Amino acid sequence: MILARRKEEVRAQVGALRKSGERLALVPTMGFLHEGHLSLIRRGRELADRVAVSIFVNPAQFGAGEDLDRYPRDLEGDLEKCRQEGVWMVYAPSDPSEVYPPGYGTWVDVESPLAQGLCGESRPGHFRGVATVVLKLFHLFEPEVAVFGKKDYQQLAVVRKMAEDLDLRLRIEGGETVREPDGLALSSRNAYLSAEERIRATSLFRGLSRAGERFAAGERQATALLEAAREIIAPSVDRIDYLELVDARSLTPVEEVREKACLLVAAFVGKTRLIDNLELG
Ligand code: PAF
Repeated sequence: MILARRKEEVRAQVGALRKSGERLALVPTMGFLHEGHLSLIRRGRELADRVAVSIFVNPAQFGAGEDLDRYPRDLEGDLEKCRQEGVWMVYAPSDPSEVYPPGYGTWVDVESPLAQGLCGESRPGHFRGVATVVLKLFHLFEPEVAVFGKKDYQQLAVVRKMAEDLDLRLRIEGGETVREPDGLALSSRNAYLSAEERIRATSLFRGLSRAGERFAAGERQATALLEAAREIIAPSVDRIDYLELVDARSLTPVEEVREKACLLVAAFVGKTRLIDNLELG
């Protein structure tokens, strides 16, 4: 497996790969890899001949007072996991200045309504940082396909929109959320949770599932579905950041589920902000 710490190394390797005619899948990550990431890598392997993984805790997508400094990191462990998954190349920039050199000044601002609500509202500037780094990675790797987790439902929609708006020639693939046996969605941020918080964190999935059961039983009204989720989530978490039922394509709130919809939640358990979602219909 190739470990590239500089973009020149990536360009050289990708150039050689292009000559061999092989198809490339890119899995962008911030590292501290778990089964969720590995499932994206496996999806990439199904869709292309080679898989590249980027590992970069992107400062541009963290707001002031967020967890940039304590975001979990384990490069050695990540490399071992990538080796075991047959990853072709890992790009782990040696320093943030490798991605944002002094004087860096170009940003991708996704003005679409897709990026305005939900995490876009709670974390101003977040999607600007995500879109910028993702576009830079797309330019560097020129992959045929890029795989993102559906747990970050809004991020996936924003990246898809950026790819469409900027005429990028690649397929954006969404990988299913991987869960612990008790339903907690895998996330690198789960590492922050104490044993007691870890138990409370399962309320996100339990709440979404309760709403899912109500939907399966025929309930279509947003107020009832949201209330079903809130009844379980609210008592267990420290604060609900948002709990919304939105149209799955536009991500705008719906009052009644007619087309495919998605229930999305962000909540703080202790100081840890967790997100999860459930597609309906
Ligand atoms: O989902 C993530 O881990 C990050 O937002 C991404 C897509 C790697 C961009 O930094």
